[in-house]
Amino acid sequence: MVFPQIRMRRLRKTVKIRDLVRETVLTLNDLVYPIFVKEGISDSEPIGSMPGQFRLPVRKAVEEAENIASLGIPAIILFGIPIKKDDAASSAYDPKGVVQRTVRSIKERLGDNLVVMTDICLCQYTTHGHCGVVEDGQILNDPTLEILRKIAVSHAEAGADVVAPSGMIDGQVQAIREALDHAGFTDVAVMAYSAKHASNFYGPFREAADSAPSFGDRRSYQMDYANPDEALREVELDIGEGADIVMVKPALAYLDLIYRIKTMYGVPTAAYNVSGEYSMIKAAAEMGWIDEKAIVLEVLTAIKRAGADMILTYFAKDAARWLIGDE
Ligand code: PBG
Repeated sequence: MVFPQIRMRRLRKTVKIRDLVRETVLTLNDLVYPIFVKEGISDSEPIGSMPGQFRLPVRKAVEEAENIASLGIPAIILFGIPIKKDDAASSAYDPKGVVQRTVRSIKERLGDNLVVMTDICLCQYTTHGHCGVVEDGQILNDPTLEILRKIAVSHAEAGADVVAPSGMIDGQVQAIREALDHAGFTDVAVMAYSAKHASNFYGPFREAADSAPSFGDRRSYQMDYANPDEALREVELDIGEGADIVMVKPALAYLDLIYRIKTMYGVPTAAYNVSGEYSMIKAAAEMGWIDEKAIVLEVLTAIKRAGADMILTYFAKDAARWLIGDE
């Protein structure tokens, strides 16, 4: 036995000493709460596949945003569900669209007290549910960029602080950056869903947002989850195209990427703790198989420990209450 003997347990003896040496601390400032806002409804609709989450009418989404801000969560990300879908996703860039109206109203009330991010994609707005313009069964790249530009500018006009292209269309960050700058929105930031995998963890979201593809799947644009080097190239390209924040999605299964991105590039990095990750915990907790609060705090801390600067999570409100110590 070596002397002096190293005993790791010395620093685990009491709560206070454990607090003192804790390396990763989850805070309210790490959280972004996703909100689904749906056109044409008058009351909240519970989302069956995501217990505790709702599709909200504009009025309630605005109230929810106020609630989020009062909990001390710094940011939300909005997903719109329009009444009208067409092949050109035209309601996605309607100045009176559901997201645009919601952003306007939130910004009128909250101003700079809440960061408002908007998801930019076509899939909730197209009849076929794909994230791009479709012709002969193919998802076209460059024609989609033209639509993404319009969506981004319409969100910025409404007051969005950050726009977040999630379609994995090549060149989307550059196209959006150019369009924003050209329209005078040089200080609206772009959060790129850079390493967005063709993942099976999005199932509950597609039910929530009514955005499942009506044919085929998303593997011709979203990334193969087996390819971490390719993910790093995606990130590098997005940084080059002007992304202010890059994202890894889903989070838990891809912590290796969060770590590598943060280590290699040192850029603001977001992780999306997606719907499937949420619903699995909810289901197991409902069965009484796990302790929800303990698991959620562990998972979010692990995502942060990997290097995430912010976590988009449906658990944001619960985590905020737990962190504040209300419950
Ligand atoms: C739209 C989009 C999706 C998610 C965020 N933006 C779904 C998809 O790509 O099919 C998933 C989020 C989640 O599962 O929580 N492109």
